[in-house]
Amino acid sequence: MNRKLPAWLEDAVFYEIYPQSFQDSNGDGIGDIPGMTARLPYIKSLGCNAIWLNPLFDSPFKDAGYDVRDYKKVAPRYGTNEDLYAFFAKAHALGMHVFLDLVPGHTSEEHPWFKESGKAKKNAYSDRYIWSDFWLYGIPNHPYIGGECERNGVYMLNFFKCQPALNYGFARIDYPWQQRPEDPGPMATREAIKDICRFWLSHGCDGFRVDMADSLVKEDADKKKTGEVWQDILGSLRKEYPEAAFVSEWSNPVQSLKGASFDMDFYLDHPGNGYNTLVRDYETEGGDHSYFTKDAGGDITRFLADYLPKYERTRSDGYISFLTGNHDTPRIRNQHSVREVALSLALLFTLPGVPFLYYGDELGMPYQKDLPTKEGGYTRTGSRTPMQWSAGKNAGFSEADPEKLYLPVDADDLTCNVESEDGDPVSLLNTVRALLALRHSEKDLQAGGDLQIVYAAAEDPLFVYRRGGIVLAVNPSGAERVLPGETKGTILYAIGQQRSLEKGLVLGPQSFVALRAE
Ligand code: GLC
Ligand code: CA
Repeated sequence: MNRKLPAWLEDAVFYEIYPQSFQDSNGDGIGDIPGMTARLPYIKSLGCNAIWLNPLFDSPFKDAGYDVRDYKKVAPRYGTNEDLYAFFAKAHALGMHVFLDLVPGHTSEEHPWFKESGKAKKNAYSDRYIWSDFWLYGIPNHPYIGGECERNGVYMLNFFKCQPALNYGFARIDYPWQQRPEDPGPMATREAIKDICRFWLSHGCDGFRVDMADSLVKEDADKKKTGEVWQDILGSLRKEYPEAAFVSEWSNPVQSLKGASFDMDFYLDHPGNGYNTLVRDYETEGGDHSYFTKDAGGDITRFLADYLPKYERTRSDGYISFLTGNHDTPRIRNQHSVREVALSLALLFTLPGVPFLYYGDELGMPYQKDLPTKEGGYTRTGSRTPMQWSAGKNAGFSEADPEKLYLPVDADDLTCNVESEDGDPVSLLNTVRALLALRHSEKDLQAGGDLQIVYAAAEDPLFVYRRGGIVLAVNPSGAERVLPGETKGTILYAIGQQRSLEKGLVLGPQSFVALRAE
């Protein structure tokens, strides 16, 4: 399709903030917008020039805010709409862009649309959600709820019980109560979503991370109809805001970037996919097979077999976004040493596409095991704990009494914090800064630059790739590896030890190097 992508994405590096846990400014134990605003210079100092904020809208918080009650109102616990506009302004003054989180697939059951929709008397919101016309057989193939409203039918869920599915229609009609994507109800839902986006874009937001973007049209096996809905929504918004950008939670770049015209698509942690084989393949039989686990027999070809065809097919449509982690997945540090994390970030930040760094991953923040579920977090809760700014009270996150904190600080692992890593030139924090500085200084390393594989083999952990004039090599194993003879150049950046021999450059155990090719 070759649509022109917003130019600013070419050199963008995103930082994801879970607002609950970043910085509390008023001592109530929960993060807030003024706290995040005060920390913008820190984020900038990392080399991140864009931010994605998890939902911070009015909500009963049964799914951490992914159950929206009012799309246009900041949740009072985080501040006011004016605070958010000020956050946009300060970010822009620092040359940064800001994404909000758009949840188009469902609302909270407390959203006024849903309350109207559940009424027996037909009204303007009757078709905003998916309702059957009879209770007994429910809604085939989908979870549904009955017995809650006066309306004569049951309604479909999109995720938790508190999240009824918005109605974008069905690609295949099996029952008379199902509507087509072009019917008036589903068309009105689309317009409502456009209206929400316009509202925030007009106040300075630069785009959206789109939650469960593939979930809109039901019984849509090939996602063609869902893609058409997005073409319509994004097409309308781009006419008014040509620099706005959109990243999908989809993890199918052909469907998302080509079919639905998103600018970026997350490469999510789906068991067995290419991303998973790099840092998260520890649940398969026979133990840990992650490529970056030292001496786990790492095989980069498993990543390449999945990634390269997707990259080749979509590289003229948009970007595949690698992430260090997110609010839904155990932190990378859970299974990996600091060096393993450093090496994996070196790869993720030097591949094509627009990378996303999850708050705290730049420090190697721990995943807190066995925390009781908080706001629908379940096992995700351990990745949502307070940002560790210092070794002081509550890790510098909040002035509140420790028992009042949204989630506890990990008292055992406070060595990992901004203050202490800041002063250590080889800390993970400063490694991240150096890697991102390298990426910003070399056009070839940015989103759209070429990628060539120089050396990759199933039985050898050494991986060598080329981005334009830069050759990069990674050795996750505990043994030295010699670079293939033809890879020569001056070292721009390195992790670990290297030495030069007659036969070529030798990469020490667990090392990475970026060379300007000769
Ligand atoms: C996405 C979000 C997740 C949320 C779910 C339902 O997967 O990332 O946190 O619970 O959608 O909105
Ligand atoms: Ca607060």
